[in-house]
Amino acid sequence: MIVISPSVLAADFADLASEVKKVELAGAEYLHLDVMDGIFVPNISFGAPVISALRKHTAAVFDVHLMITEPIRYIDDFLKAGADIITIHYESCDDPLSVARYIRSKGARAAVSIKPKTPAEVLFPMLKELDMVLVMTVEPGFGGQKLIPETIEKVRQLREYANAEGIEIDIEVDGGVGLDNLATLTEAGANVIVAGSSIFKATDPQKAVAEMKAMAE
Ligand code: DX5
Ligand code: ZN
Repeated sequence: MIVISPSVLAADFADLASEVKKVELAGAEYLHLDVMDGIFVPNISFGAPVISALRKHTAAVFDVHLMITEPIRYIDDFLKAGADIITIHYESCDDPLSVARYIRSKGARAAVSIKPKTPAEVLFPMLKELDMVLVMTVEPGFGGQKLIPETIEKVRQLREYANAEGIEIDIEVDGGVGLDNLATLTEAGANVIVAGSSIFKATDPQKAVAEMKAMAE
């Protein structure tokens, strides 16, 4: 099944609760929450208190994308805030697999993400122990960028490797995703689709989710 995960980074921060309601009503199963620390990426977004405040307003699966250095320091905070899935970056610490194991030991789903210049192979040895991998299709840090086409091949490599090894895993893509490239990404093997600008900056975000879902199916 293909899942849409709207990224609230592109939503109206002064009205997050109603923004989130809109996409949930439109059928988005997940909510993508981008946490940035100004060190791992050159931007600061929001942290656990905002996620925890949103938790009361929606039943969507909270897909928390941590773009922070040494994420182990904050895993407990994000679990407490209501994260269902926690994604950490391969490049953000020395031992991403041990952080993923910790996340799983607490009952949440664990994912590891790679930046555009990191090869897909680095994830192969840990695939069996992950619930999801996130292939960044732009350099992390900002919404509204254009998808880097070369990253699509990494989605294909990961899906082929997982299939060959008999591993069932979600593959998420994030950055510059919209109706124009959705089919290429799902065909390559992605099944969790993050979209920020193409949903929240659309004139009708609800319609944007519905169109993406229709195309994905
Ligand atoms: C970028 C974030 C993305 C971002 C995507 O670092 O990880 O989730 O919100 O935004 P769009 O869809 O606008 O590229
Ligand atoms: Zn993200």
